[in-house]
Amino acid sequence: MTVIEANGARIPSIGLGTMTLKDQVCIDTVKAALKLGYRHLDTAERYGNEEWVGEGLRQGLAETGLKREDVFVTTKVYWDKLAPGDFEASVEDSLKKLKLPWVDLLLIHWNNPKVPLSDSVKSLCAAKKSGQAKHIGVANFTTSMLDEATRLATEPLVTNQIEVHPFLDQSKVIAACKQHGLSVTAYCPLARGKVPGNETLERIAKAHGRSSSQVALRYLTQQRIIPIPRTATPAHLTANLAVFDFALTAAEMAEVAALKKPDGRVVNPAHAPPWDN
Ligand SMILES: NC(=O)c1ccc[n+]([C@@H]2O[C@H](COP(=O)([O-])OP(=O)(O)OC[C@H]3O[C@@H](n4cnc5c(N)ncnc54)[C@H](OP(=O)(O)O)[C@@H]3O)[C@@H](O)[C@H]2O)c1
Repeated sequence: MTVIEANGARIPSIGLGTMTLKDQVCIDTVKAALKLGYRHLDTAERYGNEEWVGEGLRQGLAETGLKREDVFVTTKVYWDKLAPGDFEASVEDSLKKLKLPWVDLLLIHWNNPKVPLSDSVKSLCAAKKSGQAKHIGVANFTTSMLDEATRLATEPLVTNQIEVHPFLDQSKVIAACKQHGLSVTAYCPLARGKVPGNETLERIAKAHGRSSSQVALRYLTQQRIIPIPRTATPAHLTANLAVFDFALTAAEMAEVAALKKPDGRVVNPAHAPPWDN
C-alpha cells in the first residue's frame, strides 16, 4: 500500500470508512479489509462502533500475521465533547472500546464554536504528547479554522478530513491544507451513492473497464487525496482497493473536475460551520 506523507505521518493512500457498520458485519468487514490489503481504518467515538472495529482489527491481525504497527487507525472526538475534561474522557473511552493503548490518528471531528480552539487544540496536542495518538489532525475545518488551529498547535497537524468527491468544489480548503502541509482525507468519496449512474463517470469507467466508483476513487488518489470509502459489500470492498493499477488521462481528470459545484455537499448538519464556498 502506498502512503501519503504529511508533517511526519505516513498515511496509507486509501482507508476503510466504518460509519454505520455495526456488530458482526463491522468485525467481518474490518477483518476482510485487512486480508485484502487495506491498512487504514476510520472510526469515531460518534459512530458507536469502536468496540467492533477494534475486534475486527484484532482478529484481522491474528489471521494475517500483521503487526499492530502495520495498520493505521483513526478515531475522532465529537464536537459536543471538546471542552477540557470531556475531551480527555472521550479519548480514554475510545481507547478502552478499541482495546488499544494508542491510535495512529486522533481528530477533532467538528469544531464547536462554544469551545475555544485554544482549548480543544491544546487537548489534542496533549493526547499526542501523552502517546495516546501517534498523530493528530482535524475534520471539517474551514480555511480560517485551519489558520487558527495550525497557529495554536504545538504538535504538527497531519490531515483535515473533509467531504471530497467529484460533485463538490473544495478547492479553497484543499489549497489551505497544502499550504499548511496537511494531507486531505476525503470522506463520502462516493458521495453516498450519487457516483454510480453519473453519466460522465460511467462513460470514463467504461473506457477503462472499471466502475464509476473506481473512477471517483482514482480521481482522488491521483491528486494525493486519501479516500475512505465505506462498504459492507464484499465485492465493493475488493473493487475500492483496485484503483492503483490504472490512471485517468489529464482530459479525463478535467472532465471529472468539471462536475464539481459549490453546493454539492451530502453532509451539512446544523452544527456545520459557514463553509468556504
Ligand atoms: N469526518 C466526518 O465528519 C465524516 C462524515 C461522514 C463520513 N465520514 C467517514 O467517511 C466514510 C465514508 O463516507 P460515507 O460512508 O458517508 O459515504 P461513501 O463512502 O461516499 O458512500 C458509502 C456508500 O457507497 C456504497 N459503495 C461503497 N463502495 C461502492 C462501490 N464500489 N460501488 C457502489 N457503491 C459503493 C456503500 O454501499 P455498500 O455498503 O452496499 O457498498 C454505501 O452505501 C464514513 O464511513 C466515515 O468513516 C466522516
